[in-house]
Amino acid sequence: MAGADQKTAGQGTVLPRHIAIIMDGNGRWAKKRGLPRTAGHAAGAETFRRIASYCRDLGIEYLTVYAFSTENWKRSADEVSAIMGLLKKYLEEAIEKMRRENVRIRILGDLTPLSPELRALIDRVEAIDETLETHTQANLCVNYGGRDEIVRAVKAWEADPDRGELTEEELSKYLYTAGMPDPDLIIRPSGEERISNFLLWQSAYSEFYFTDVLWPDFTPKDMDAAIAAYQKRDRRYGGVKK
Ligand code: IPE
Ligand code: IPE
Ligand code: MG
Repeated sequence: MAGADQKTAGQGTVLPRHIAIIMDGNGRWAKKRGLPRTAGHAAGAETFRRIASYCRDLGIEYLTVYAFSTENWKRSADEVSAIMGLLKKYLEEAIEKMRRENVRIRILGDLTPLSPELRALIDRVEAIDETLETHTQANLCVNYGGRDEIVRAVKAWEADPDRGELTEEELSKYLYTAGMPDPDLIIRPSGEERISNFLLWQSAYSEFYFTDVLWPDFTPKDMDAAIAAYQKRDRRYGGVKK
């Protein structure tokens, strides 16, 4: 469906083009089971695999997930390295399976503090990604912060000799999400109801869906419930309903 129609037809049976998820609650999921927090992250990574395939099957064009924030470095070195290890495992598998799964994968965030090994894997994934003909793209936000993204975008714009006049549209071209539609629906599981520095610019008119389900327990049924809730929303973008 064309972008303009999508904007006005945000109710009924229209699928969101872009769904974003704050994958939260891994630590509490593990704690409830007497497991280390890292076991929760491993379970959460499995959930991501399942939900990404489900979104592809539904025909969702963009799925953006928050995997590691610019603030998550505050956690113990063990927990951070377990998360980076899971990311490495995921990317290695992706290199094997991307053509079969037919989901394009992009990593969004400031990748400079990641290990050279991880960065090389990301480059390999993105090279395959350019060759895929698919309708679904999964964006993994790693060392991502919404404020950091905006500051970087302004700096990149300033440094660009071909920059245009600074407008909302112009600045959007320097964000990690350049060229993608804004998220229609942002889901946060785990019972927390906050944005935690996710997609601050892009979420201006997103619909929010909160659920107490912890991310490792999140199933395609929970995704259906979130989409059904979205389809009942009345998106007005500041206008008045006719
Ligand atoms: C989300 O789960 C994953 C990351 C932030 C990396 P948490 O690790 O935040 O889980 P809780 O919130 O402690 O339960
Ligand atoms: C947000 O969750 C970041 C990710 C899910 C990657 P956090 O668990 O870090 O957020 P806060 O600390 O509860 O706000
Ligand atoms: Mg959390």
